[in-house]
Amino acid sequence: MTREAFVNGEYTDYNKSFIHIEDRGYQFADGVYEVFAIIESKIVDYEGHIKRLYRSLNELRIISPIQKKSYKFHIKEIIKRNIINNGLVYLQVTRGVASRDFKFPKNSKSSIVIIGKNSPSDYYNDNFNKGISVKTTNDLRWKRVDIKSLNLLPPVLAKQFAVDNNCDEAWLLDENGYITEGSSSNAWIVKNKTVITRPVSNSILNGITRSTLIKSLEKVGYKYSERRFNLNDIKDADEAFITSATQFVMPVIRVNNIKIGNGNVGKFTILFKEIYFKSISLS
Ligand code: PDD
Repeated sequence: MTREAFVNGEYTDYNKSFIHIEDRGYQFADGVYEVFAIIESKIVDYEGHIKRLYRSLNELRIISPIQKKSYKFHIKEIIKRNIINNGLVYLQVTRGVASRDFKFPKNSKSSIVIIGKNSPSDYYNDNFNKGISVKTTNDLRWKRVDIKSLNLLPPVLAKQFAVDNNCDEAWLLDENGYITEGSSSNAWIVKNKTVITRPVSNSILNGITRSTLIKSLEKVGYKYSERRFNLNDIKDADEAFITSATQFVMPVIRVNNIKIGNGNVGKFTILFKEIYFKSISLS
């Protein structure tokens, strides 16, 4: 099977798909993206992701290269052409191609790329059953991480720092020692049957998985608190986990050398995973 990508209006062979050397995404990280989870060839929480994509585009004053209603068609087409059952679709829009100059170009057309891939089978369940380890590091990102922009060097370095320390994810510390979020996920702890996560602001990405989980917690009447937490709170926590389109709900069993709870996957995290999957919309 030939893998296919959607690049600026055309379906192309993945191995022969190219973007111009003066695309502003390449030169300045001048663009935005979304990652969609695919389950049984359906898009998870499409509406939430597309709404956030338009918010990111508007914040950066990038004009969408295609009509809003066309996004779903092309994502579906990528799922179909690449026979994606359970996996991911990655979608990126940049300000387009122009001779390198910091100010916005006058006449460039935004670029779009959509690619997709299957995830290894049982990848999620295997990781869930093991749980992941987290390393903390300073949050070196810019002040508008609520925008899902391509400006990802600090999270790349943070994730590599975690991996270099035999961990799977980095949790980022603000200047007051509070966790903002993960390098590519939202961060949560559970204490005394209350689930705690940082409130939405310019210092975190408003995760679609986060929103769906909060809605499902409300539905079952489980207590949650949107407040900041730090390493002392983590030491006292009964459970911890992360959420994202790639990890769904994923248990954290260790942060630095702090064992969370009894060091096993927590029972509430198992419950949250179940209620999360019951609340997602598939389209
Ligand atoms: N990352 N916070 C950050 C910094 C993220 O990069 C992500 C997602 C999230 C979770 O958002 P959502 O639940 O909408 O996926 C939070 C994606 C998966 C990525 O960059 O690969």
